[in-house]
Amino acid sequence: MLVHIKDLVQGAKKNGYAIGAFNIANFESVLAVAQAAVKAGSPAIIQVSESAIQYMGLKPITHIVSTVAKNVAANVPISLHLDHGSSFDTVFECISSGFTSVHIDASSLPLDENINLTKQVVKVAHARRVWVQGEVGAIVGSHEKNIKSKLKVIPLAKLDEIIQFVKQTRVDTIAAAIGTAHGIHANEDIVFSLLKVIKDKVKIPFVLHGGSGISDAKIRKAIKQGVNIINVGTDLKVAFCRALIGVCLKNKQETDPRNLLKPTIAAVEKAVLGKMKLFGSAGRVATIS
Ligand code: G3H
Ligand code: ZN
Repeated sequence: MLVHIKDLVQGAKKNGYAIGAFNIANFESVLAVAQAAVKAGSPAIIQVSESAIQYMGLKPITHIVSTVAKNVAANVPISLHLDHGSSFDTVFECISSGFTSVHIDASSLPLDENINLTKQVVKVAHARRVWVQGEVGAIVGSHEKNIKSKLKVIPLAKLDEIIQFVKQTRVDTIAAAIGTAHGIHANEDIVFSLLKVIKDKVKIPFVLHGGSGISDAKIRKAIKQGVNIINVGTDLKVAFCRALIGVCLKNKQETDPRNLLKPTIAAVEKAVLGKMKLFGSAGRVATIS
């Protein structure tokens, strides 16, 4: 069932686990996340990036996610979220389309401009009971590629800027650069000392971006330190592509696309299930009210 993201995050916060925010790329991955949520008895966030919107269209995505949530995952709570929205227009379209949470990512702008744009989004979103995620200190890396190479620099967000940003914008959740990166990179990490001071000073839920490529032990430690949402994109794309390439190579004469795509659903479902167990959200449906 489709629910407001607030219900999911409150359950996670109260009970000390994290909700996976899973980037979807197509119908198969929406189905995979929903099926994993049912199997695990886990709440889940389905999130869409601007590139997913360009690929599938905003209305189709909204309808597919709500229909799948209603029919495939009737008894588990699922929320729909915009990931890394770069403009007021994109965010506004998603709010109008029925999203209960939007991420305005103006983190590449100077802080005062980031604050101004985020404030405009918060005003419009809160008037419609929609949650807003803000971002400070741009999270680097690639959304589209699985690069195992080292990134030259992984800049960190500044604590005083995060505090000022949260106070002035009144965002509901906060993302900040704490050492992770988008994609899978040899030198990405979690700077736990920074996460600790952020959690001490900033009381709204913290969103960990770049969840792929971080060891299970570090993910567990981050959840213990109070992370409530973990974004996972690349690991799911890799699972999808590996499965598709494998089945295509073995079945070069296949003429029914469904026979090629079914293994991709199973592969993404397995990857999502693993994350739900790791994040501690499996078996937690009852904690959502
Ligand atoms: O916003 C999306 C995420 O931060 C995904 O990062 O591709 O490294 O898992 P990832
Ligand atoms: Zn991200």
